[in-house]
Amino acid sequence: MQLIDGKALAETIKLEIAEEVAQIKTEGKKIPHLAAVLIGNNAASASYVRNKVRSCEQCGFRSTLVERAADISEEELFGIINDLNQDADIDGFIVQLPLPKHINEEDVTLAINPKKDVDGFHPINFGRMAQGLPAYLPATPYGILQMLDRYNIETSGKHCVVVGRSNIVGTPMSILLSRKAKVGNCTVTLAHSRTKDLPAETRRADIIISAIGRANFITADMVKEGAVVIDVGINRVDDASRKRGYRLVGDVDFENVAPKCSFITPVPGGVGPMTVCSLMLNTLKASRKEIYG
Ligand code: GUN
Repeated sequence: MQLIDGKALAETIKLEIAEEVAQIKTEGKKIPHLAAVLIGNNAASASYVRNKVRSCEQCGFRSTLVERAADISEEELFGIINDLNQDADIDGFIVQLPLPKHINEEDVTLAINPKKDVDGFHPINFGRMAQGLPAYLPATPYGILQMLDRYNIETSGKHCVVVGRSNIVGTPMSILLSRKAKVGNCTVTLAHSRTKDLPAETRRADIIISAIGRANFITADMVKEGAVVIDVGINRVDDASRKRGYRLVGDVDFENVAPKCSFITPVPGGVGPMTVCSLMLNTLKASRKEIYG
């Protein structure tokens, strides 16, 4: 069993990006610039955004943080988005989700110029991704593709079972792995809450990607010997021995599943750190105008 060290890989990729940015600086070209919009005081969102800003620093990017209170009007938020769409210095930006209930997230996603949508959430980027056209890929699936690539895990002809059909993880992951691409050419099953016999599906899988959000959901009896297991879950479980009263675990019963695997990602330190890395890669692509010219 080999552990896929997402934390170390993310650091390596960020160092590679920093080297490219140093080169851009030497050539006197524009430094990549990412903006993040953070609304309200959701502690998890604030922590994710801080992490994104810190990653920009590690990569040598410029970053701009736009913070507003939870009672911001939709009108004001759309004004901010419009300004960022127009600002020639901003290569890409994100609006951190979730948003307060009175703001329509779908409308917000649609208001972002697809050329600056480094989250890859806009339907234009999703559609381009689905058709195999150049697109900003959503952070989590893109991070997983990077892991499979850098660990030289063969995907061609393999049977992959993706568990969970969200718009930002499961569904795009299933599309990306079935594409004709270096990391792709899988036969994909997209399993979800209405799947009849999930263990029967996962037991057939060469690669399992779980993005369901339930602790200990994937148990050893559901995994074939030698499978690759990618755990996207981040779940809190009570733990009185920790100062904060909980610890983070994935969807996979790691202790019992890991011995059966050829490769497995830990939680924390697996997929999580790779997602911010994907955002950095998308921002670099935006500044180079790689996707839309
Ligand atoms: N909330 C949780 N994950 C994400 C993400 O990748 N992008 C944005 N904008 N919000 C999120």
